[in-house]
Amino acid sequence: MSILIKNGRIITAVDDYVADIYIEGESVKQIGRDLAVTADRTFDASGKLVIPGGIDPHTHLDMPFGGTTSADDFHSGTLAAAHGGTTTIVDFAIQSKGQSTLDGLEIWHEKAEGKAVVDYAFHMIVTDMPVSRLGEMEKLAEAGVTSYKLFMAYPGVLYVDDGTLYRTFRQAGLNNTRICMHAENGIVIDEIIREAVEAGHKEPSWHAKTRPTRMEAEGVHRAVAIAEVAKVPLYIVHLSSHDALEQVRIGRARGVDVQAETCPQYLFFDQTWYDKPNFEGAKWVMTPALREKWNQGSLWQGLRMGDLSAVATDHCPFCFTGQKELGRDSFTKIPNGAPGVENRVTALYDGGVRTGQISLNRWVELTSTSAAKTFGLFPKKGTIAVGSDADIVIFDPDETRVVSVNDPRTHHMRVDYSAYEGHTMTGWSETVLSRGRVIVHKSNAETDKGGRFVKRARVGELLR
Ligand code: URP
Ligand code: ZN
Ligand code: ZN
Repeated sequence: MSILIKNGRIITAVDDYVADIYIEGESVKQIGRDLAVTADRTFDASGKLVIPGGIDPHTHLDMPFGGTTSADDFHSGTLAAAHGGTTTIVDFAIQSKGQSTLDGLEIWHEKAEGKAVVDYAFHMIVTDMPVSRLGEMEKLAEAGVTSYKLFMAYPGVLYVDDGTLYRTFRQAGLNNTRICMHAENGIVIDEIIREAVEAGHKEPSWHAKTRPTRMEAEGVHRAVAIAEVAKVPLYIVHLSSHDALEQVRIGRARGVDVQAETCPQYLFFDQTWYDKPNFEGAKWVMTPALREKWNQGSLWQGLRMGDLSAVATDHCPFCFTGQKELGRDSFTKIPNGAPGVENRVTALYDGGVRTGQISLNRWVELTSTSAAKTFGLFPKKGTIAVGSDADIVIFDPDETRVVSVNDPRTHHMRVDYSAYEGHTMTGWSETVLSRGRVIVHKSNAETDKGGRFVKRARVGELLR
């Protein structure tokens, strides 16, 4: 199968020019002006942007959490990702306490295999790591899982103590792999929650009121310090607040290899959303919580200056009916997480590029290239270049739609609400290619499944 994309404005993290792209099989074969080739299928991209497929380095598909399971599986979640211009996800496999991480990985392979529409990779969530099992981490890296997530939050569930953090960080560093950190002091937060519950508070807004930004900042500070001593590259996930970002900056200024991602929800929503009537605020209950609005300016600045290097979704959808409702009697029982894998590329174009917060190149870098480089997918993915995978989006910068769970052009996630319901957004993915397959064209899914597991490279290595 060959495809010719003609006359598009090609935007990568560094380029901006008009040219044709010729694709043969799974990869880009030629890029140039007026290419003298014929192809099985030709797309005229005049007036459109042509960008590398989005990479979302933070999703939770088919994940048991909060007494239920996230509503998207690897089919529905990756199909929604494709509609939204994302052609690679890095999902979080989980190792249960006492279980080998390799067994945990096997379970996530079973969840994804044969279901995914776009390519996928895995981080590994570590819930314990005795010395006797440290050797597994090398085997994971050999299997293409070259990053780990550890939690300071959720005591009794995913939380690990500082000793486990140090031990795992140290081994990850020795293996040339990366640590992802959920940085929030869950032990202190649980005490604050206890006080709030004892005082009779039940509403969703108490999710935010019991999770002070200072406890996120403390987590970042501690993770940076441990990573510095353990000599491992660190990546703070879902950073939500000015206070936490300040700690990233301090670490970076000291020379520590620490990067951080934020998520669209922290850029476009704030904690007043929890006050919506009829328990609707539960739709935005996620961890970290939405913050006071003034934090958003600081996050945008971080994205421009490089202290925040990527925008991921933390896509962890739970239906309002039957799932979020588990917490009607207490905010502590609302499953934590929100949908977003489909919205990220458009939301960041509409709310970031069109508002002048970030450039076109930075948009591509934040939604694709940076994650590819950080997580061992570059240059196979994350750019448009001869030899790279033909993961390409033809993006219409002028198309305007109103996001609604009822509009089949704007909502494919298997969840009964959209966090962006009623938002008018300009800039939509029109044609989406994954390794040379047209997976979405003008809101129609053309290919079912066909996504593959990607073995990622280690820190400092390229994936070819
Ligand atoms: O609320 C969230 N973020 N749910 C997913 C689990 C996590 O902490 O990433
Ligand atoms: Zn987390
Ligand atoms: Zn997450």
